[in-house]
Amino acid sequence: MSKICIIGLGYVGLPLAHAFSKKYEVVGFDINKSRVDELNSGFDRTLELSQTQIKSSLDNGMKVTLNIEDIKDSNIYIVTVPTPIDQTNQPDLTPIIRSTQSVGEVLKEGDIVIYESTVYPGVTEEICVPILEEFSGLKFNKTFFCGYSPERINPGDKEHTVENILKITSGSTPEIAKKVDDLYKSIIRAGTHLAPTIKVAEAAKVVENTQRDVNIALINELAMIFDLMNINTYDVIEAAATKWNFIKLFPGLVGGHCIGVDPYYLTHKAQSLGYMPNLILGARQINNGMSKLIADKTIKLMVKFDKKLKNAKILILGVTFKENCPDMRNSKVLDIIKELQEFECYVEVYDYWVDKSDRETKKLNFIDELPLNSKKYDSIIVAVGHDKFKEISTDDYANMSNAEPIIVDVKGLVEKPTWRL
Ligand SMILES: NC(=O)c1ccc[n+]([C@@H]2O[C@H](COP(=O)([O-])OP(=O)(O)OC[C@H]3O[C@@H](n4cnc5c(N)ncnc54)[C@H](O)[C@@H]3O)[C@@H](O)[C@H]2O)c1
Repeated sequence: MSKICIIGLGYVGLPLAHAFSKKYEVVGFDINKSRVDELNSGFDRTLELSQTQIKSSLDNGMKVTLNIEDIKDSNIYIVTVPTPIDQTNQPDLTPIIRSTQSVGEVLKEGDIVIYESTVYPGVTEEICVPILEEFSGLKFNKTFFCGYSPERINPGDKEHTVENILKITSGSTPEIAKKVDDLYKSIIRAGTHLAPTIKVAEAAKVVENTQRDVNIALINELAMIFDLMNINTYDVIEAAATKWNFIKLFPGLVGGHCIGVDPYYLTHKAQSLGYMPNLILGARQINNGMSKLIADKTIKLMVKFDKKLKNAKILILGVTFKENCPDMRNSKVLDIIKELQEFECYVEVYDYWVDKSDRETKKLNFIDELPLNSKKYDSIIVAVGHDKFKEISTDDYANMSNAEPIIVDVKGLVEKPTWRL
């Protein structure tokens, strides 16, 4: 019977630990003390698991720990630590290297280390395996083994949860691949796809998100073109989507730690091999430019409507990187705010999803209630499509605005926007 250790209990690791805890002995290891304490008290700030779910895992014997001694007797280690990029958009492999060192220190003969973090093809075998060998003194594919199984969960999505999404699996030998596949099959209702190699599994994940990024960039570029032509992009998409093979996406901001980040892992590897991935980098540039475009449009509208820019009051609805989740990491709304602040506008933010402590760390001007009837704002930007924002009426927008309402709609939610992306 396998004893499973999950390394990194964030958006990916915690739901995975919960799913495994229904059938296996599980220990979750994280270096963040407050995260460990919160989970042990039954609270998940990512809101992926309810208190009842965490409690049921703990009742099933799941241990959540900061202590490396507690993970020593596991025989399957699953690494779900972050894989961010640095200031220059290069992969920052520090968490994956550090966590691999920790696993290397406790690795024993026969153990399997499975990576779930999103990486470029080659990270598991070319970067992690040598560290595991160095720290454990064991030999790859002789005395320990590896696997790679990318995660496809979607924060805030209660339908596509870990057990309901088909999972790609792979292993460092055919026998280990089968073991890894069987392990996931035992908890994933949607089944598995066993990839022929670890590199194929690594590539598949990074390609899923790169394809989405490029497709959204195309729609964003079309939205910019149609704006110049005074054509409603949403009407164009609705019409074009009547063809069976049109990919129906809408313009918008691409933030978060996946779609806006993962393509840089692939482009980094491509460039290291002498290939310049112009299409992928061009798509990144377009998507990264959307915040400035939205801020510029807001400023131009305020000038057009004779509003004074300095100290102009602007309300931003939504600051998370996507709808209906509390995750603010790499949110492109933050770039809109920064851009507006450069014009010395005073920006307030309303987002009922964001936790109080995250509000404090971000140092934004959060407001707790939607200020209906405040007649306060020179402009309102609807930046994120949270469900509650769909209920705000044309009259509400007018009653929050101090004169002619300037409503900039990034998500196609507003009935009568002044401008819609
Ligand atoms: N969040 C998603 O929706 C999603 C979806 C698919 C794939 N992924 C990928 O999964 C990976 C994890 O993402 P996430 O969103 O869960 O990240 P996260 O930041 O929510 O969680 C990562 C956890 O790892 C911990 N950690 C960091 N370094 C550690 C170390 N050395 N040892 C032990 N724990 C450590 C952190 O404290 C944190 O709790 C990333 O590669 C990401 O790209 C994320």
